[in-house]
Formats: sequence, structure tokens, C-alpha cells
Amino acid sequence: MTDPTSQANYTEIATEHVLFKWTIDFANQIIAGTATHDLRISKNDVGEVIFDTADLDIESVEVEGKSASYEVKPKHPIMGSALHINLPSGLKSGSLIKATIKYQTTKECTALQWLAKEQTQGKSFPYLFSQCQPIYARAMAPVQDSPSVKIKYSAEVISVLPALMSAIRQSPPSDGPAHDGKVIGKDAVTYVYHQPIPIPSYLIAIAAGNVVYRPFPRHPGKEWTCGIWSEPELIEAAYWEFSEDTARFLASAEEIVVPYRFGVYDLLVLPPSFPYGGMENACLTFLTPTLLAGDRTLVDVIAHELTHSWFGNGVTHANASHFWLNEGWTTYIERLLLQVIHTPADRGFSFIIGYKGLQDDLEMYVDRPKYQRLVIDFEKGEDPDDAYSGVPYDKGANLILHLERTIGGLDVFLPYVRDYVSTFMGKSITTQEWKSHLYGYYEKHGGAGKIKALDSIDWDAWFYGEGLQLPVKMEYDSSLAESAYKLAERWDSSRAVEISKLSFHESDLDNFSSTQKVVFLERLQSYKPLPSSHVEHLASLYKVSSTHNAEIRLRFYQFCLADPSSPVALKYAAQAADWVIGGGTGMVVGRMKFCRDVFRAVYKVDKDLAVNAFQKEKNAFHPIARKLIEKDLKLLS
Ligand code: BES
Ligand code: ZN
Repeated sequence: MTDPTSQANYTEIATEHVLFKWTIDFANQIIAGTATHDLRISKNDVGEVIFDTADLDIESVEVEGKSASYEVKPKHPIMGSALHINLPSGLKSGSLIKATIKYQTTKECTALQWLAKEQTQGKSFPYLFSQCQPIYARAMAPVQDSPSVKIKYSAEVISVLPALMSAIRQSPPSDGPAHDGKVIGKDAVTYVYHQPIPIPSYLIAIAAGNVVYRPFPRHPGKEWTCGIWSEPELIEAAYWEFSEDTARFLASAEEIVVPYRFGVYDLLVLPPSFPYGGMENACLTFLTPTLLAGDRTLVDVIAHELTHSWFGNGVTHANASHFWLNEGWTTYIERLLLQVIHTPADRGFSFIIGYKGLQDDLEMYVDRPKYQRLVIDFEKGEDPDDAYSGVPYDKGANLILHLERTIGGLDVFLPYVRDYVSTFMGKSITTQEWKSHLYGYYEKHGGAGKIKALDSIDWDAWFYGEGLQLPVKMEYDSSLAESAYKLAERWDSSRAVEISKLSFHESDLDNFSSTQKVVFLERLQSYKPLPSSHVEHLASLYKVSSTHNAEIRLRFYQFCLADPSSPVALKYAAQAADWVIGGGTGMVVGRMKFCRDVFRAVYKVDKDLAVNAFQKEKNAFHPIARKLIEKDLKLLS
């Protein structure tokens, strides 16, 4: 049972530490350098070490300081090219061996996005950032690219712009002068990083650009530090948005689980083409700038990413089939944090929003029901990005919530959560291992009654069930949703009424939080689409089409486009497409949750409009987003 997305022979020999010596070449848009692996042998006489690579130029290989023979195998479309390196004979299990690969990245690199200066906030310097999850680390460096392999790393990165990595900075100091006081964009500075805690390869990350740092106030009694990085133009706004909550959330998570181990928890706000809302890179969470709503309403993404410090970065899924262990658990704990820091109603509200997304995604997969499953039986070489959806998040979080309730509530559940995390911290596990530990724990702490409760859970239905329903009908605290539901219902029952006789008012939304506005717009979509006249009336009354809150804007466009053949759909399809391609600025809305959903909705209204808009700004999207949008628009199979 090895990783279906990797060609590495990590069960025979595996990296324990890797040293990267890199030069970032902005002019040629490549990273060039070496990766030196310290490999632990676990099989006598292992003859070779196999690394994953994708579109790398391999220049030479040394084993134990001596030139070694190697072969780069033909490229598999998803898994890339296996790099086989011959090892000396007679190697003993338990011993260590060193292999150095000299290489550079290429133009085809899917892990890196190189931005022109026009695509940044400051417009003065280029920018580089990586996204390695799920299987793109191999496009940045030769690695055994499976979450079952956990490695420490060190890095020495030469760059003319400040360089950040998912590790502890050794030099120059983060809070010292930017770029070590040298000329930004011109002088080369060596940035040294060290990650002393073994992490899966998908958490290796780099960013380089004109970025500055502002530390958050120290949290009383805590050793760890938090702070924020962004371009100088955004640092004020970014600091304001997150400085209140980050350390508070991290401290609360420590109360629920166990102490934070990584020492530093920093945030980096990226340019808008960053393809995710957030990415939990070790020590340095990457964030989309669309979170800077100016009202601190999108901090749940921070709660989510920092929770990965335990679920994912600490206890890791063994491979793509068990991805839900990362995201389902993280989503469950993220929502528990909302309950602790805010109110139980906030937790329920988040489950309600997640449930709508889950419903949509389950429907999206009606023709590929295997991706409706929580535990997915991937074939060797299948693309995990094809399965990426709300299923592991929300089916997963609902399973854990159901478990919490079945076992008797938080008082008996949280001690188990701590035991689970402590038991598997630093390891990579499968769903089976998770379940065995669960049973083991409650056998010891509860006995027959608890085991009976566990046995009442239809595990097969949760793990392998397909279709649009959860195995259990879940109840959530809906108090925060009621007003949104009521307003949506009023609109629904007004569909036959003439516009001039409608009694809606601009102020209807005055007391709504932005999340309640989201739920209102989503609820409207659960009814038959409203007539175009009503949609237009709603749009002009509530002014949602020009909002800066991307969450609201997305739902508004989805609402307008709900009936693809209506006049209002045609009108707003053009606006929606223009929004995600950045309206000619080159600053695309690259977060896939927004741009993929918009492109998919526009495609249903007018295929050509969607395809033409995408083609116009195709190169401004991150390579991963580009690939997935091409699949959504049927430009790629
Ligand atoms: N780890 C994920 C992002 C990811 C998953 C990237 C799989 C590549 C492959 C991250 O923690 C995440 O879930 N981000 C969400 C945030 C949200 C659920 C709060 C996102 O980007 O939307
Ligand atoms: Zn996540």
C-alpha cells in the first residue's frame, strides 16, 4: 500500500533531511541549485533511490560526494519523471547515505508562479511564490513527494528580493532592516532557513518579492511568535485584519489540542493570483489578499490554516486517499474554535455554509461518484486535483461532529482528540489507523457502552458512501441563519408580484453580517430562479454587485446566473467573467474557489464568453489554476 501519486521507493530508503542551495533567477524565471538528501536505508542492499521530479533539468548527481549514475525516466502526465539514482552495493538497513542533485527548474514548472511587476501591488518588483500541495513539490525540487515521508530541511537561498520559506529564519533577522539593509531588487542576499521538525514535502514553500514584516503583539505566557508579511502597500491593512485574532486563535487551539510545536506562526498575504484562500505552509501560512475585507470577517480562514498545525502538519494523511484526515479534522476543529471564541451559533452557522458547498460539490460529481466518497481509492497516477472539493472538508467535519455527539459530547470527546494527536504527532496515517486508535481509546476509557456507541456509526456509509446525502441527517444551530432564510423566503414568494408593488428596502441587509449576506444569496439559489426583473431589482437595491467582499460577490453572480438562459444571466455573466480576469489590470482573482466557480457558471450561460475571457488572461493565472480551469472549460481532458 504505497502512495498512488508518487513513484519514489520511500519504503526502502527515505529522506530524513534535505539541504537546498538555491539561486532565484528572476530574469530567467528559474530556481537553480542543489538538493542534498540525507537518506535512511530501511532495506538491506537497496540498489537505488528513486525521487519524484517534474519538468526539472537535472545536471548531475553525486552520492557520498562521488559522481553517480542516474536516469530520468519518461514523464508520466500526472506523476512526472522518476529520477533513479544508483547506489553503491552492500548498503545496510539502518545506515545513512548522502545524495546531491544539481538541477534547475524550467518554464513548465507547475509549482511556481513568477509574476511580472505589474501583477503586484507595488508594481515595482517581480514576485515569486510556490504552491506544492498536493503533488507539485517535485516540480520545484527532486523529492520523495509523498506525505508519508517526513523531512527536516535547511535552505540557503540567494535572492535580490526578500525570500521567505516555510521554516525558521536563521538570517538575516525577520525584524531587522528589509533585505538586510541592501538594495532591494539589485543586491543579492543569502537567506538561511531551517525547519527542524519533520514535515511532508507538500509543506515546503518559498516566496520572494518586495515584502516587509510586522510582528503581532506577543501573546502573554507564550514562547511562540506571530506576525505578518506582505508588500508594503498592504501591510497596514493586513496587520489590522489579522493582528487581533491570530495569536488568540492559536492559543485557543493549544487549549483544545496540545501545545504548538513550530515556534513561529507567521502569515504572508500574497498577490491576488494565489490559487487558494489559505495554505498551511509550515511556520508561514500563505493567504489570498481577498481576505482583506476591512472588517475582520474572513478570519475563519486563519482559524482553519493554523489548525492544520496539528491536523496535517502534525498528524499527516498517509496519501491522497486519506486527505480527509487533514481537511475534515481541520474543518471540525476550526468550527470548534469559532464556538469557543465566538458563540455556539457561529459553529452551527459555519456548518450550514459548509453544507451548501458540500451539496454543490456532490452534485458536481454525479458522473464521477467515486469522488463523492470520503475515502477515495485512487488508481496509480490518478490526479488528486481532480478529486479536490468540499467532500473531504465537510463530509469529514460532519463525520467528526457525528462522532462527538454519538460518544457523548465534548467532555468525553476532547480528551480523545488530545490522545489522538499525541499518539500520531509526527506520523503519517491512514483512515484505518485512525479508526483503530479511536476504538482502542474508548475501549480503555469507557468500555462496552462507548464501543456500542461507536458500533452504531455506519462507517462504510461514511467512508465509501456515494450520492448526495450524508449517512445521517445532521442538525445545526441555525439561529444566525434564520433572518437570512426569512428574507430569501420573502423574495421567493414575491416572484409573481410586480416590481413597483414590492416592499423590499435598501435597509433589509443593514443588520446582516457579511456571512449572513452570503447565506441569504445562497438560500435564494435553493428556490426556482427568480424572474430577471426581480434579480435586477435585488441587485440595484442591495448593491451587492460592486461589493469588495469576494465571498458575497461570488454568491451574487451565482444567484444571477442560476437560470443560464435568462437575460439577467447573460448580462451578469460578462460582469462576472470580467471580475475574475481582473478587468484588464492583469490582477486576476486567482483564488480557485472564486475563479473556477465563476468560469463554470459563465460557461453554462455562454461557452464562448467564458473561454474568451479566460484565454485573454490565461497566463496571469497560477499554473495549477490554469490547468484546472482548462479542464472545467473542456479545453483539456
Ligand atoms: N491545504 C488547503 C489548501 C489545499 C488543499 C491546497 C489541497 C492544495 C491541495 C488549505 O488548508 C485549505 O483548505 N484552504 C481553504 C481554506 C478554507 C477551507 C478556510 C481554501 O483555500 O479555500
Ligand atoms: Zn485546509
